[in-house]
Amino acid sequence: MKPINIGLMGVGTVGGGTATVLKRNAEEISRRAGRRIRLFMAANRDTERAREHVGPEVIVVDDAFQIVNHPEVDIVVELIGGTTIARDLVFKAIENGKHVVTANKKLIAEFGNEIFARAQEKGVIVAFEAAVAGGVPIIKALRESLAANRIEWIAGIINGTANYILTEMREKGASFADALADAQRLGYAEADPTFDVEGHDAGHKLTIMASIAFGIPMQFSKCYLEGISQLSSKDISYAEELGYRVKLLGLTRRTDDGIELRVHPTLIPEGRLIANVNGVKNAVLVNCDAAGPTLYYGAGAGALPTASAVVADIVDVTRLLAADPEHHVPLMAFQPDQLRDLPILPI
Ligand code: NDP
Ligand code: HSE
Repeated sequence: MKPINIGLMGVGTVGGGTATVLKRNAEEISRRAGRRIRLFMAANRDTERAREHVGPEVIVVDDAFQIVNHPEVDIVVELIGGTTIARDLVFKAIENGKHVVTANKKLIAEFGNEIFARAQEKGVIVAFEAAVAGGVPIIKALRESLAANRIEWIAGIINGTANYILTEMREKGASFADALADAQRLGYAEADPTFDVEGHDAGHKLTIMASIAFGIPMQFSKCYLEGISQLSSKDISYAEELGYRVKLLGLTRRTDDGIELRVHPTLIPEGRLIANVNGVKNAVLVNCDAAGPTLYYGAGAGALPTASAVVADIVDVTRLLAADPEHHVPLMAFQPDQLRDLPILPI
């Protein structure tokens, strides 16, 4: 059978990790997908940087539109980030009948409603496991493993950079600026790190989870956002003296009047599991009527953990194509026309 051809757009931290994982575990990945997965083409502004990650057999270009327009590419993997060129590329890919895998939470949270509607019309799949909590398979859990449940609330540490900064400040007395610089050097932070420290990135991820959990459209603009940039080392040590840890939490809850959607620093008693999630680790606690509380934990950012989620989506899309070659569905829990417009409560 012809291999599934992957077009990788953006070969930076996550794109480089994705190329590494595809190469390192090629045999297992193709066996699990039921079909050979081939990295066929890669696009990066700096083509030399891309070449360091991909083999000589891969076509390397600097213009990612060559990937979305290439007739032999089956799945495009968008790892450029942002909502300018990445958005144009994703819409063009959908128009061209390509399936899409992306780690871009900003794009999904802000333009997901239009993207999924268009993908449904065109019969292509859009998958985004890596957009929330890096290597933690929380999208699959919400969409599939918990599909039998009425989900009541979700509370999570969903920004690795912020959690890394708070941990370094508490454990090592590091300054905010030094800890942030470390997170950037380690490849955890967004291109604009104010997204991490002001709660926007966590808000994007919370918006996506709430949409899947409650079957509502993405409504990022209504999410309450408060980050960690105003916290000082004193706040963290006073909290500790009183037996609490400070964590940046994303919280969403179903109430009779609508949905709560908020991100803010929270005091958590130090004995709680979630208070002991440190460094770049993320943890998402989901409370449901049948399963009760379930907890998902792991690396929330970084090249290889995020690549793990990207490649899992490539495998999922390949399997879906084999199972249902004609009637592809976006990888959402609900079809766009089944979403309910519940109000987001003001905070
Ligand atoms: P990077 O900045 O490391 O990588 C982005 C890459 O895209 C760079 O190599 C850049 O090339 C390339 N690029 C930018 N513009 C273009 C363009 N117009 N054409 C071709 N290539 C271009 O970002 P990350 O890998 O960290 O993040 C990528 C996406 O993954 C983002 O959406 C991010 O939010 C998401 N994500 C990141 C995680 C992480 O841990 N870093 C975790 C989960 C999700 P050049 O090198 O030439 O500038
Ligand atoms: N900047 C993000 C974080 C990357 O630190 O969590 C993972 O989404």
